[in-house]
Amino acid sequence: MEFIDVINSRQSVRSFSNTEIPEEFLQEMFTAARLSPSFQNRQCWRFVVVKDEKTRSDLALKSGFLGKVNFFIKNAPIIVVACADTSKSGTINNQHYYLVDVAIAFQQMMLAAWNRGIGSCWLAAFDEKSVKKILGIPDKIRVVALSPFGFPKEKDTLYAKAVKTFAGSKKRIDLDRIIFWEKWGM
Ligand SMILES: Cc1cc2nc3c(=O)[nH]c(=O)nc-3n(C[C@H](O)[C@H](O)[C@H](O)COP(=O)(O)O)c2cc1C
Repeated sequence: MEFIDVINSRQSVRSFSNTEIPEEFLQEMFTAARLSPSFQNRQCWRFVVVKDEKTRSDLALKSGFLGKVNFFIKNAPIIVVACADTSKSGTINNQHYYLVDVAIAFQQMMLAAWNRGIGSCWLAAFDEKSVKKILGIPDKIRVVALSPFGFPKEKDTLYAKAVKTFAGSKKRIDLDRIIFWEKWGM
């Protein structure tokens, strides 16, 4: 795909076919994350890639902070858990850049995936303690996000349709509300 088409067409995917992701595409996705910019180039990101069915099921059914809200990730062939070693980033103006570092890298991974037709969905609605327990992640590491990755199912499930409608997937506020020229509000 052309780069701009990747950006324009990307959307969160919440229903997946069980087609495996070719190794070559996975390597492309991981490399896209690896090449991201980061605070002092300290590369605090770490990713746990989960293929095992039982572990995926545990993440799907036992990691949500609201019951089983993340059940839909179970059907994706892989789940990636994006973590940060916070000692390898920094803080300026009381802003913790590990979140930025990991967010950029994870988004690059998601865009590289979408370029190959592989969907994902950024998830913040998880219980960090449970995720750490399931994956054996050390205390000092923060879990920033997780996402399923897989080829989209031809037809969205009812759940995926409902969330898209609720979250207004394609709705965005107008450019003139987010871009100010020369001074704030102009
Ligand atoms: C920081 C962040 C947290 C999110 N958390 C969740 C989540 O917990 N569950 C979920 O289904 N979608 C989650 N999303 C996906 C958003 O709902 C989605 O990006 C938004 O509705 C716009 O839709 P689109 O990605 O299809 O363009 C999250 C997205 C971001 C960036």
